[in-house]
Amino acid sequence: MAILKIARMGHPVLREKAAIVADPTAPEIRDLVVDMIETMHDAGGTGLAAPQVHVAKRVVVFEVGETRLTGRPLDRPQELTVLINPMIEPLTSETELGWEGCLSVPGLKGAVPRFTRIRYRGVGLGGKPIERTVEGFHARVLQHECDHLDGILYPQRMTDLRLLTFVEEGMRFPVDIGVADSDADAAE
Ligand code: NI
Repeated sequence: MAILKIARMGHPVLREKAAIVADPTAPEIRDLVVDMIETMHDAGGTGLAAPQVHVAKRVVVFEVGETRLTGRPLDRPQELTVLINPMIEPLTSETELGWEGCLSVPGLKGAVPRFTRIRYRGVGLGGKPIERTVEGFHARVLQHECDHLDGILYPQRMTDLRLLTFVEEGMRFPVDIGVADSDADAAE
């Protein structure tokens, strides 16, 4: 187990298209996932994609549940998901603005439009198929994490860069985008 170094915006690995994992059951993928989970927990993130730890492979981990890890003690268990070779299919053309942060873009947050309802597929550790239809925050996290696999960071998805702000300034000068403006609502 190891806490890995997180790549920050500007590192070329974050602009690469990540490679499909040929064998999701390979021991090196299991080792990578274990380290990614430990790194995500250490950094207090909601999700993490392999390129963020300098590995250009299509692997993401995320935790979405009743509450999320935000530096505060957990009061309910999170649902931890490991997703390898994910595919996303929007189920609506409707999008919604929501605040996002990213461990690769530390200190900032931005309001990003995302599809409100998606289906995603992939495989878990051991190769077990995963297919879910999700909406809202869960759908947002998936879109954010899967973008990492295509070399896209959330500012590239923003339609109004005036809504890119330092987290601290966002707390001093809140902007109303029609959704809750709090850390707990920011995807990573
Ligand atoms: Ni991110």
